[in-house]
Amino acid sequence: MPAAADHDRFFARRRWMRTVLAGGGTLALPALAQSMDRPLDVPFVPTSDETVDRMLRMAGVGPKDYVIDLGSGDGRIVITAAKQFGATGFGVELNTERWKLSLRNAEKEGVSDRATFYQRDLFETDLSKATVLTMYLLPAVNLKLRPRILALRPGTRVVSHDFDMAEWMPDARADRSWTRVYLWIVPARVEGEWSWKQAVGRGAPEFTMELRQQFQVISGSVRIDNEPYWLTDARLRGDEISFTVIGDAGGVRIRHEYSGRVAGDAIKGTVRMVNGDNAAPQSAPWTVVRVPKKP
Ligand SMILES: C[S@@+](CC[C@H](N)C(=O)[O-])C[C@H]1O[C@@H](n2cnc3c(N)ncnc32)[C@H](O)[C@@H]1O
Repeated sequence: MPAAADHDRFFARRRWMRTVLAGGGTLALPALAQSMDRPLDVPFVPTSDETVDRMLRMAGVGPKDYVIDLGSGDGRIVITAAKQFGATGFGVELNTERWKLSLRNAEKEGVSDRATFYQRDLFETDLSKATVLTMYLLPAVNLKLRPRILALRPGTRVVSHDFDMAEWMPDARADRSWTRVYLWIVPARVEGEWSWKQAVGRGAPEFTMELRQQFQVISGSVRIDNEPYWLTDARLRGDEISFTVIGDAGGVRIRHEYSGRVAGDAIKGTVRMVNGDNAAPQSAPWTVVRVPKKP
């Protein structure tokens, strides 16, 4: 728990953030929150050390990660990611004083080689190196960033302090009495038609699958040699997909549990098959390709 003084300060800042939000965000920012360089999109309210730790733990940050903090303030998130979790990364901050402070803080903590800071607009920042993106921004800013975040490499983890991304539901959420941390895993794009051949009994019929997708939530239908089957338990987490196909194939009851990784227009993985009521399960490699859209 933070000390009482921290707690009071934190509430005061949060009240201020709420006032800004109630006024509609950017347009209502008080003069205090203006950068010398250009108006800020978000006021400076630092994340408490305890919440920084929680954000990085929720994202599972480790030495292989590249962390980008959008609106990095005094640099605490990237510095902690480097110093305590062994990660590398950078932060971008518009405000000159805070940008300089973050460089000094990284130096003081001995992590300047792995925690870099740029004075840059977060909307003009290339995010492609991120394996983890951290944000303490505002709902409207999160929403504006959302299409760019969804275009990042599938599996990229995104953690946001206090603010969500509207109808893109988080994959996890942790609430403490006065803060909330959201985690999203950027989903692979799987909507559309896929097809593969799979041995069932003596034949190798053609499977076609139509997937619908709303962010990480997927559902769909499967046909085997053009006959409809059940598709259940469809899950997508980053580039990892799994689902089960159940039905009756030419008198043989089948249950196929598929799991694999999406890589562009292909999915590679394994299938665990039970073909027939008393049959022993068999495992086999499984490859599926995307059916090109008809012009
Ligand atoms: C709420 S603070 C969060 C600071 C830090 N990430 C943390 O969690 O402690 C938001 C920061 O974003 C910066 N900021 C606002 N608009 C920005 C923009 N367009 N580009 C870069 N930084 C911006 C502000 O100066 C402020 O330091």
